[in-house]
Amino acid sequence: MTDSTPIIASKLHGKITVITGGASGIGEATARRFASHGARAVVIADVQDEKGQNVAASIGHDRCTYVHCDVSDEDQVKALVDSTVRKYGNLDVRFSNAGVPSACDQTAVDFDLAAYERLFAVNVRGMAACVKHAARAMVEGGVRGGSVVCTASRLASLGAVKGTDYTMSKHAVLGLVRCASLQLASCGIRVNAVSPGATMTPMLVGVFGANLEKGVQSMVSLKLGKVPSAENVADAVSFLASDESEFITGHDLAVDGGYIHPQSL
Ligand SMILES: NC(=O)c1ccc[n+]([C@@H]2O[C@H](COP(=O)([O-])OP(=O)(O)OC[C@H]3O[C@@H](n4cnc5c(N)ncnc54)[C@H](O)[C@@H]3O)[C@@H](O)[C@H]2O)c1
Repeated sequence: MTDSTPIIASKLHGKITVITGGASGIGEATARRFASHGARAVVIADVQDEKGQNVAASIGHDRCTYVHCDVSDEDQVKALVDSTVRKYGNLDVRFSNAGVPSACDQTAVDFDLAAYERLFAVNVRGMAACVKHAARAMVEGGVRGGSVVCTASRLASLGAVKGTDYTMSKHAVLGLVRCASLQLASCGIRVNAVSPGATMTPMLVGVFGANLEKGVQSMVSLKLGKVPSAENVADAVSFLASDESEFITGHDLAVDGGYIHPQSL
């Protein structure tokens, strides 16, 4: 443990946790929160190896490790869970967070089906693979009280004027969460979604580029007066991951500062 990641509370005391998309943005902020909340192990997985290694090193290698995992490859997702269980004995918390934005406008008149399939391979098939292998490990390990959290989006409830493939993929995440929560409840495993509004991360910067401020303002009404940070989302994920939310499952927790879709204003 390094000085930069002090243990400030114990809501995740002793938990074995895995985070996909953990090298950047919301996943990185959550890795830091999990470590500071006392998790015994924080395994972060991503395709950005250098960034992931740096995050693990800054949290401290006694608590955090980095593993390469492309979630669109089920074998890699299974290997990630298997290696975690081999090393630590079980899996308590799975934050399935890896995602990619639309590569193009993707409106009804210019829908690019090849781009849609590439995005769905990560955002939907990858999410399903992560939930499947986490659930199997928890069930086989007899882990009651396991928690799976999936990153959806406020767009999954509101729709969007472009980026149809991304918005569809996040609707699918909510469908997955709702089904899996019903199917796993009898095993004592909870499955919830966290739905960020526009959140200040490298993904948002990449989507808007130089037009960041204008773009964010055009998308949201910032009732609470600021764009949510990755840490705001990480706090919600930590709650859903911990026993503090032990009677919450199948829920979609919005973290959006009071997001209102422009069309509803
Ligand atoms: N930032 C926002 O405004 C916002 C809003 C709603 C939902 N989200 C969702 O939050 C999640 C995290 O995004 P973020 O904003 O932190 O962006 P980010 O780009 O900072 O982080 C996403 C991470 O996922 C990783 N990733 C991408 N493809 C992967 C793959 N195939 N396998 C493993 N890892 C992969 C990336 O390398 C990156 O580290 C995503 O699911 C995103 O869709 C973001």
